[in-house]
Order: sequence, then C-alpha cells, then structure tokens
Amino acid sequence: MSVTIKTPDEIQKMRIAGRLGSEVLDYITPFVKPGVTTEELDQLCHDYMVHVQDCIPAPLNYCPPGYTPYPKSICTSINHQVCHGVPSDKALKKGDIVNLDITVIKDSYHGDTSRMFLVGGEKSASILARRLCQITYECLWLGIAQVRPGAHLGDIGHAIQKHAEDAGFSVVREFCGHGIGASFHEDPQVLHYGKPGTGIELTPGMIFTIEPMINAGKAAISELSDGWTIVTRDRSLSAQWEHMVLVTESGVEVLTLSAGSPARPDIVAHLLP
Ligand code: MF3
Ligand code: CO
Ligand code: CO
Repeated sequence: MSVTIKTPDEIQKMRIAGRLGSEVLDYITPFVKPGVTTEELDQLCHDYMVHVQDCIPAPLNYCPPGYTPYPKSICTSINHQVCHGVPSDKALKKGDIVNLDITVIKDSYHGDTSRMFLVGGEKSASILARRLCQITYECLWLGIAQVRPGAHLGDIGHAIQKHAEDAGFSVVREFCGHGIGASFHEDPQVLHYGKPGTGIELTPGMIFTIEPMINAGKAAISELSDGWTIVTRDRSLSAQWEHMVLVTESGVEVLTLSAGSPARPDIVAHLLP
C-alpha cells in the first residue's frame, strides 16, 4: 500500500476523531490513581467511547496478520512495558508510570493518541521515571516540529533519536508511527530514528502518528506470552507519547489535542508557530 493524501472531507473527519481520542484521555485522567486496576480503566474508557462519544474502540478484537485478536479497548503499558500492555486485574501503585493508548473510530476514521501518567502524582515517581517521561514528551514534540511540506521522514526520526540518545536513553526500533485514516495502520512507517534528508518527502494532506517509545536502558525488547505485551529486554523503564499529525501547506497541524492536553514543552517554543 502507498501513502494516501487525505481529501478535505477526510481531514475534517480525522480532526473530529483525533479530538475525541484525546478527550478519552482527558476523561480518564482523574481515575489514574494508586489502587485502580487497568481493567477498570479499560472498562471506563470503553463505556465512554461507546456510550458518550458514540465511537468504536479500535483496539477491541483488532487482529493484524500473525496476531491473536486484541482482547481489550485500550492499551495500558506500565513501567518496563513498552507498548500494547493488556489491561488486567493488577492495580496501579504509587510511583508507577503508565501509558494509556487510545484509538477511537468515529464516522469510519481513526483517532490515535497516548499519554504518560505518573501514578500518585509528580512527587511519587523516581527522578529517573520523571526525566524519562519528560524527555520522551520532548522527543514527540521535536519530531512534530520537523513536519512540513518538503521535509523527509528521516528528519523526524533523527530529531527524536538525537534528543533521546543525548539524554542517555535509547529508541525502540521494532515499533514505529504510522499512516492512519480509514485504516488503523497504513503507510508510511514513521521510524523514531534515522538520518536527516532520508525517507519519503512529506506533502500536504498526509496524516500519520508520531509515537516514540524510549527506554531508560537498552533498546532491545521482548514480547510476552500473551502475544501482545512488549517489554524492555533488560526490564528498564520505558515511556511513550503519541500524537496524530496532518501535513499542511505551511507546516503541521496536531489533530489529537483537547482541553486537557498537556502544554507543548518549552524546547519547541522557537520551532513552532
Ligand atoms: N494504538 C496503538 C498504536 O499507536 C496500536 C495498538 S494495537 C492494539 O499504533 F491492538 F494493541 F490495540
Ligand atoms: Co499509533
Ligand atoms: Co496508539
């Protein structure tokens, strides 16, 4: 499959799906506390998506080639879990870091976004955990700041890789950002490492995610026997943030923003309008 350029009508639907995905994160934020199980968070998000937003949770029964159907409506990746963590009856603890990854389908179009949460608040997390979450958030936005017509995918990967590695962290290679629209995962693959000027050239109307997974230790990962959960091989902490972006005539529009989205980091203040 090749990279699709979205029509103005599709772009309008993706704006709506993107905002709704982000609003699920806004909704769930006050529930992310010590003692809550990830299954409870899954159920709350499921009901909000289905009954309040009139959306379909895209992960539920999602079954790419070579996988078993995903059994839940959101992904919850805790501490050394990199991505695709499956909600369970395990309770979150003070000091955990957890990624909640939400994908809604509204009017046939996907909205995909994720954030990190420090369980029990800022002061509960270790200095390392806080720094990892912050650097990863900066990586996401440094990648976003590269997006404009004429730029290349490698510019995004390079900006992310440089910031992560300068901080002493590593970039997961096996999973990447992706084109998105009426399909959950489409071309192009958006690598979170690379060289400036390489890869396809960006043109207006492309929509894709940027979703760096950054490890405190080594980059290597393993898959758990549930067939979904990805962990760091060395069991070091891992963080991820995700936005969906549109290449515009003049630069970039972030589609997965809502009232509760964290502010952009200061590091991109001089890079974005
Ligand atoms: N939301 C994830 C992504 O960003 C994909 C999750 S697939 C699932 O691409 F089946 F695990 F939900
Ligand atoms: Co994604
Ligand atoms: Co996602």
